[in-house]
Amino acid sequence: MSPHDIDYVKIFDTTLRDGEQSPGCSMTREEKLRVARALAELGVDIIEAGFPAASRGDWESVAAVAREVQAPVICALARCSRADIDKAWSALEGAARPRLHVFLATSAIHRVHKLHMARDEIIRMAVESVRHARSLCDDVEFSPEDASRTELEFLAEVVQAVVDAGATTVNIPDTVGYTTPQEFHETFTFLRNRVRGLDRVTLSVHCHDDLGMAVANSLSAVRAGARQVECTINGIGERAGNCSLEEVVMALAVREQAFGVRTDIDTQRIYPTCRLVSSITGMPIPRNKAVIGENAFAHESGVHQHGMLRHASTYEIMRPQDVGLMRSNLVLGKHSGRHAFRERVRELGFELDEEELGRVFTRFKALADRKKELFDGDIEALVLQVEGDTGGPWTLERLATTSATGEDARAIVELAHVDGRHIEQAASGDGPVDAALTAIEQAIGLPVRLHKFEVRSVSEGEDAQGEALVTVVCDGRTYRGCSVSTNIVESGVRAFLEVINRIELSRQSGRRPRQPTAGASIIQGAA
Ligand code: KIV
Ligand code: ZN
Repeated sequence: MSPHDIDYVKIFDTTLRDGEQSPGCSMTREEKLRVARALAELGVDIIEAGFPAASRGDWESVAAVAREVQAPVICALARCSRADIDKAWSALEGAARPRLHVFLATSAIHRVHKLHMARDEIIRMAVESVRHARSLCDDVEFSPEDASRTELEFLAEVVQAVVDAGATTVNIPDTVGYTTPQEFHETFTFLRNRVRGLDRVTLSVHCHDDLGMAVANSLSAVRAGARQVECTINGIGERAGNCSLEEVVMALAVREQAFGVRTDIDTQRIYPTCRLVSSITGMPIPRNKAVIGENAFAHESGVHQHGMLRHASTYEIMRPQDVGLMRSNLVLGKHSGRHAFRERVRELGFELDEEELGRVFTRFKALADRKKELFDGDIEALVLQVEGDTGGPWTLERLATTSATGEDARAIVELAHVDGRHIEQAASGDGPVDAALTAIEQAIGLPVRLHKFEVRSVSEGEDAQGEALVTVVCDGRTYRGCSVSTNIVESGVRAFLEVINRIELSRQSGRRPRQPTAGASIIQGAA
């Protein structure tokens, strides 16, 4: 294969839309902006910023991303209804390069059980919606939801109709993660042979991971001519998630000659971006996660270690630094200066301005007073925590706990609210964490159900910092919070308070109890 055969594949990131639909992964507007900026730095071509008709909060987040993040195309999702499309378009007002993405289910299962619509009605609605979207925006994507379970002939009919109506990208989703690489290759080949003018639009692929084949199915579609891949950071998304950006991008990069395509992703920014999304969503990166997991570059067996010492390529198909995993054994401590600290932060892939660096450095000094040695994991946690405050409304002013074997633990918490309220509350419980969380619940008066409480160490040594991950259910939705401290009771309490803040912010932004899943409902006949 010659370099002239190398084609370009657009990376369409939907972490802020499909990724956010993952239970417990909802993000505040500020968090979405931080992720969007990181995605722009990573080099994604398109950011799907949200689903503006879902709630006022979603609309505001899309509008903020559209105003502030300029380099990539900013896309907003809409159902096939005039009201949805107009709402999405109004949110995109500030975007330098806006895209409208309209979708409508096409499979028999969805037509019969969800939409109660006949085939010709589906085509009419899709065409009217694409035409309306095109009257507003030059860049319009159409997705036949559940395409992989749609009758091939009918799918081709729908795709032909929306191409003729002016869609500039046609996306083929495997909405329920049902297809296989071979089958999806055939679907794409069939459509390319059958639909007139499909070569003049971008053909896109969108896969879910229910059977663990999202990346393989996406790669197969690329082989069959797809030139846009829809994916999410860490593969987060509905149910088992979406095609993972880091995996699909590295597969295309490492096997460039096999696929004959390239992307514009700055692969060295992959790990910092994944870490950022993990800390914001509270979804830890599994140790054995391909490309970015802690074990992805660890070699345990003697044979492998021996090979690695001889030549890294014996057991490594990519280098940790290729994905931005710049681990070092350099340990920082209380005598380390601002300069050394700044260098370390940069090597870890974070770009901080002087003011942000100053704030992290102050925390670094405070931590270094308590903890002798600071490792990469500690520094990463400090940066992500300083960057990642939900911004209230509640803050922890004081926490005191006592516990002894065989007795109930006691906790006193002092909380402050941005509206000026100041509450002190005491409670007892089964251990200091339980007592402190009960005190917070009583102080705030919010009925929540603690679903999960996990603690893990972010670095090494006896005085390692503990990261607490708290999962809570409230109003039928799942919320996650995470916090890091050398004191695990404190990190648990801070993580819980982060959850409380998320619930309050989410209520303020008018979020419905459960965001409608893509296509779970449709405004009948509204187009
Ligand atoms: O999975 C799906 O079908 C979707 C569409 C809205 C593209 O997310
Ligand atoms: Zn999806």
